[in-house]
Amino acid sequence: MKSKLFVNKVNKYAKIDPRLYGSFVEHMGRAVYSGIYQPGHPSANEQGFRKDVMALVQELNVPIVRYPGGNFLSGYNWEDGIGPVENRPKRLDLAWKTLETNEVGLHEFSEWAEQVGSEINMAVNLGTRGIDAARNLVEYCNFEGGTYWSDLRKTNGREEPFAIKTWCLGNEMDGPWQIGHKTADEYGRLAEETAKAMKLVDDSIELVLCGSSNSHMPTFGEWELTVLDHAYEQIDYLSLHQYYGNHTNDLKHYLARSLDMDEFISGVVAICDAIKAKKHSKKTINLSFDEWNIWYHSNEQDKAVKPWQVAPPILEDVYNFEDTLLLGCLLITLLKHADRVKIACLAQLVNVIAPIMTNPEGEAWRQTIFYPFAQVSNYARGEVIRPVIESESYATSDFEEVPYLESIAVVNEELNELVVFAVNRGEEAMTFDIQLEGFEVKGIREFTHLTGHGIKETNTENNEIVKPVISEAIELNEELAIAKLEPLSWNVIRFAL
Ligand code: AHR
Repeated sequence: MKSKLFVNKVNKYAKIDPRLYGSFVEHMGRAVYSGIYQPGHPSANEQGFRKDVMALVQELNVPIVRYPGGNFLSGYNWEDGIGPVENRPKRLDLAWKTLETNEVGLHEFSEWAEQVGSEINMAVNLGTRGIDAARNLVEYCNFEGGTYWSDLRKTNGREEPFAIKTWCLGNEMDGPWQIGHKTADEYGRLAEETAKAMKLVDDSIELVLCGSSNSHMPTFGEWELTVLDHAYEQIDYLSLHQYYGNHTNDLKHYLARSLDMDEFISGVVAICDAIKAKKHSKKTINLSFDEWNIWYHSNEQDKAVKPWQVAPPILEDVYNFEDTLLLGCLLITLLKHADRVKIACLAQLVNVIAPIMTNPEGEAWRQTIFYPFAQVSNYARGEVIRPVIESESYATSDFEEVPYLESIAVVNEELNELVVFAVNRGEEAMTFDIQLEGFEVKGIREFTHLTGHGIKETNTENNEIVKPVISEAIELNEELAIAKLEPLSWNVIRFAL
């Protein structure tokens, strides 16, 4: 099979916001306790953070981490997580039916985020709380000093403001499962007024309004139109969430889920722009895809988990090779929309539907999906080039044309590098021509591929076998590179400019 990607410098069209490679740590399952934090573990530092986990987070190069939820957020009192740890209350977490000890709160998480080199994408509870708790939290985090909340921050050991820039106005407020679930009008008004108060405290912050919990919600579309109509001038981003799974064990159908993501993003962009036109506004609302991933492997096993435990192992999906291929397609899809998707958070980071797993008595290890994320996060920095592709395609029950090739190129002027990412969705090898125009290509720095595994093959703590390896199957003749893409493969080709 033959395929082609045209990469022309004149088609640079979007600067990538580094926040596109964000992730998410929720107080649920073993994400925090025995995930990022485990005092007493051999790799724990003085504050109780696992250094083996921190090293893997740094390999992923995650610039921003959403915190503290998720569904957990909608019943959370942020004040429970500040002050002396021994005085913090133990609470029921109604979202996941677990116990929250509050050993880790704002100061501890911020310390951890600084140590791994990430910013925090902070979420405020608009389920059981509202304007007052949100504006107080902004004051506590971002106000210099001389007020009740900013001075309390200092008393609690943090002199300088946390200076948190990106904030989420609640979580999945359209979902009937959400504590404090609201109608679109109720949420739209509350978000508008909360945003107003938060920006009165600090007008440099950026705010994310909740879109739908996924594109299959019966209220999808109507929800976005209504909440934007209320809060348009106060907010900066609209959120999207979506999880995928190979529910019918149909590989071709599964690998086409990125087309579903593509349609979802295009639909939400259209809605944002429709409200912009209706309001005669000069302001453009961009998107925050602040929960995305594959989530389905753990559904059955989680039904047996007993309620009211501290940090039970829930949502511990073990990812396989086919998941990695889809994750690659999803990353390319986010890059294709980098002109409007400015923030995205792989949900989540550690143990809970995560690229990083920990053994409480052993090591931290990389799941199969770790690798495409790490490669895109590290190498896709700079500007996206509009992908023009020639590829044969196949049909599924919901898409008439699914191209066998999924691909995009990113140019990084600072590093003099052009990087091509490609997935071969097909079960045949592919000759992949890359026509490079407008660049002075000096050579190939590296070509890696992840291929040749059984589609259900997974990694384990002591055996990370599903990972990229070097490929030599590429030739460069001036402006044309010809690579061989193995059947079912994730490929990263780095050209020196
Ligand atoms: O990431 C797991 C859960 O998925 C989050 O808590 C929630 O926001 C979403 O439904």
